[in-house]
Amino acid sequence: MQKMTIVDEKFYGRLKSRSLTKRQSELFDTLFPKLEIKTFTDIEQALPNYDKVLLEIGFGSGEHLAQMARSHPADLFIGCEPFVNGVASLLIKIDEEKIQNIRVYQRDARFLIKELPNNFLDGVFLLFPDPWPKRKHIKRRFLQDKTITDIYTRLKPGAFWRVASDHKEYRNWILKMFGQDKFRGLFTAELFDRRTRPSEETWAKTRYERKAEDEILYAIYTKVIDGE
Ligand SMILES: C[S@@+](CC[C@H](N)C(=O)[O-])C[C@H]1O[C@@H](n2cnc3c(N)ncnc32)[C@H](O)[C@@H]1O
Repeated sequence: MQKMTIVDEKFYGRLKSRSLTKRQSELFDTLFPKLEIKTFTDIEQALPNYDKVLLEIGFGSGEHLAQMARSHPADLFIGCEPFVNGVASLLIKIDEEKIQNIRVYQRDARFLIKELPNNFLDGVFLLFPDPWPKRKHIKRRFLQDKTITDIYTRLKPGAFWRVASDHKEYRNWILKMFGQDKFRGLFTAELFDRRTRPSEETWAKTRYERKAEDEILYAIYTKVIDGE
């Protein structure tokens, strides 16, 4: 497995799995530079044109990101995904559908989150994160005390964080991590399963969701408004 070491943390996912098609390579040269964000300053420049700011962590091939951006054209969607082939798939969708309101951070989301101001985000999506089921790999899971704390501070009061997983260990991990005493009173939680899941218009499906065979946990954690 390739490792990308950035500052003090390691990204353990795949960076590339196969060669890009000619069209994908062209889009990396022509379209990607217009969408890429490297620092918070790049986001700031786009802000005056949009109402809300939403962040998707690990968008994979970008099905959810593209559909949500299409259905909310007044909002800015920032997608984080280091996997080159995933970004390439998203670029095709953006180009074909002329989507204007997506920006891409092609690195580990944790580094962008650190740069964001407090009370900045209107919503966060963490959908079907890598489960890292082996005990010795638990530290690689995206949801950790630190990431929950970092994202909590960047969410506006009343903003949401949607998390989903079909992996048994990770479903339990989500409930355990958010259920800790240290996070008591910070979020309200709404939990759903396949039958009760919010409609596809409000919560688009991802590639992993479409191929999931096990039960799925869908959770919406909403940052409480002071005094609630
Ligand atoms: C199991 S895939 C799910 C992809 C997509 N969300 C879906 O449901 O189809 C997890 C994705 O998260 C990405 N990922 C893992 N850790 C990440 C991180 N720290 N920052 C950004 N993306 C990350 C991986 O590259 C991978 O594409």
